[in-house]
Amino acid sequence: MSRLVVISNRVAVPKARGAAGAQGGLAGALNSALQSNQGIWFGWSGEECESYTGEIETVESEGVTTATVALSKQDIDEYYNGYANSTLWPLFHYRIDLTEYEQDFAKGYERVNERFAEAAEPLIEDNDLIWVHDYHLIPLGERLRARGMKNRIGFFLHIPWPPARLFVSLPFHERLVTTMLAYDVIGFQTDEWLDSFLHYCTKELGAEVDEASGTITYEGRTTIARAYPIGIDWDHLQEQGNTGEARQAGQRLLSSTRHRIAMLGVDRLDYSKGLPERIDGIARFFDKHPERVRDIVYIQIAPPSREDVESYQRIRETLEQKTGQINGARSEVDIVPIRYVNRGHSLAELFGFYRAAKIGLVTPLRDGMNLVAKEYLGAQDPDDPGVLILSRFAGAAQQLTEAILVNPHSPDDLSHAINKALDMPREERKRRYDAMIGTVREDNVHRWTSNFLADLQGGEFGSP
Ligand code: F6P
Repeated sequence: MSRLVVISNRVAVPKARGAAGAQGGLAGALNSALQSNQGIWFGWSGEECESYTGEIETVESEGVTTATVALSKQDIDEYYNGYANSTLWPLFHYRIDLTEYEQDFAKGYERVNERFAEAAEPLIEDNDLIWVHDYHLIPLGERLRARGMKNRIGFFLHIPWPPARLFVSLPFHERLVTTMLAYDVIGFQTDEWLDSFLHYCTKELGAEVDEASGTITYEGRTTIARAYPIGIDWDHLQEQGNTGEARQAGQRLLSSTRHRIAMLGVDRLDYSKGLPERIDGIARFFDKHPERVRDIVYIQIAPPSREDVESYQRIRETLEQKTGQINGARSEVDIVPIRYVNRGHSLAELFGFYRAAKIGLVTPLRDGMNLVAKEYLGAQDPDDPGVLILSRFAGAAQQLTEAILVNPHSPDDLSHAINKALDMPREERKRRYDAMIGTVREDNVHRWTSNFLADLQGGEFGSP
């Protein structure tokens, strides 16, 4: 197989794999593909520099070379905090109310994509496969083509693709999509996001779309677009689950909750995750079933995220207020109904918590996939599994249909689901778990990378 060059906004050195996977993000998913293909992983170092130099720092570890550049304050503000996380992220998660359409953000986004293309060019050889990730770098493929690159270049979008009627609110939306058609293969998490993209290409661009083969032909160039649902690193999760760290974490949680059922949520602190709505659902459950306050304790692990973006600062305040209100109203001297933990944990610790928690609450308002849902199932005891309550608006709901599927906007629906989960007999828990665990184990991250890379290597589509 050809050498693999992965390009993404964030880059994790292989040693950080456990921590990255713990947050259900992109980082943990890519290491194995890179390790078996003498990979290079290029992106932003996460560091700020006085002014941009394009100087690349490389580190080699476990067969993977990471190559990173630092960005200036202006680049970070306009590209990362700006266009990526204040324009595209909210819009792609259907939050047009939070979307900021600033010209400077768009310019910063184009500038940084051009900088990435310029910096990555010397690292890339003729036969390398190039795999670009996520909404930060949509135009990068086109920027590389402008430098004469004829390599096979693929793009995977980790977040949803919004319906055309929302997407057209983005100034210069056609430009963003036409740059995307410079890729040979475009991957989405689910058929729903793929369909929205194909619909846009047909209706707004007038491209020729063949839905059966997933090909889009536009201005003489053909691109393939398909759904490749991402999975977890099953083996790595099980390895972590077998550590003393995982066992201790589980025991710590169980001994602190004593006879009460632990219900767990693990999310980046992001408004797309539906955290205040979830707390409203729990409040409704306590209102309807005050006698059950002693049966249950809710543990919300929510490491802070994108703290320089105002909408993220607001969500944190809202969540703190709501949690405080419920605890104020419902606590007893020996009971605090909600524990809110504002920091991240290792994957081993999370495994211990997942397994100890008899209910997993994963209720985003919109999510590309959501790997926490899959990790929660992957950590369960097959003979006595917990219950997954899952938002129907998470990409994962298309595969995990035997979870209790809920509308995260409805406190009554959430309250009903919690009650049902608490009373669910072991036989039904097992039946639901057995129906879902196959896809969690088999449709794992290795299958995801090999499916995507097989199409990218294919060669029959998209000659530049
Ligand atoms: O899931 C989308 C994503 O941007 C991932 O690419 C990333 O790992 C995660 O969210 C965390 O976001 P950030 O890199 O902005 O901290």
